[in-house]
Amino acid sequence: MIDSRNNLTILQRGEPVLAQVADAVTYIDSEKVKQLIADLKRTVAEANGVGIAAPQVGESLRLFLMCSAPSERYPDAPLLPISVIINPKIHQTSAQQELGWEGCLSVKGKRALIPRYTNIKVSYLDDTGTKHNKTLTGFLARIFQHELDHLDGITFIERLDNESDAIDEQHWRERYMNESA
Ligand code: NI
Repeated sequence: MIDSRNNLTILQRGEPVLAQVADAVTYIDSEKVKQLIADLKRTVAEANGVGIAAPQVGESLRLFLMCSAPSERYPDAPLLPISVIINPKIHQTSAQQELGWEGCLSVKGKRALIPRYTNIKVSYLDDTGTKHNKTLTGFLARIFQHELDHLDGITFIERLDNESDAIDEQHWRERYMNESA
């Protein structure tokens, strides 16, 4: 039975599992995977995240959630249904990258300007095992690349071009509020 009250701890950068290459999910229908997906949904909602990857809760599996919705942490995020992304691949990228602000539930209190491909062609399985081929752009392409990095043992801070592109979340908030005022 799926226990919907399971609270998971979000691991912080420095935990070895966050630096590992995760394993492909082989049995999407297993109780373990179903429970993990239920737990991740609850955990990311409580943390106001727009995405969360299995290694962030200590499961070294190629699975993440994309759950873009406007929140205090990401006021400009588009509102979309939660997507369960299993065994994802990027097949093609735009030549162009763009800088955008990111945070990460595993790097508390930091925001950083990170270069990501503007457009990506991806494939993945959903939680029913159905295969999807999609083209993602902008913020969604950014979330996908950020979360896929977690499956390859990379946190966003390692993608920094420049140390000065990382700032405290509090400063980012102040800057954001000023810009949007
Ligand atoms: Ni992250």
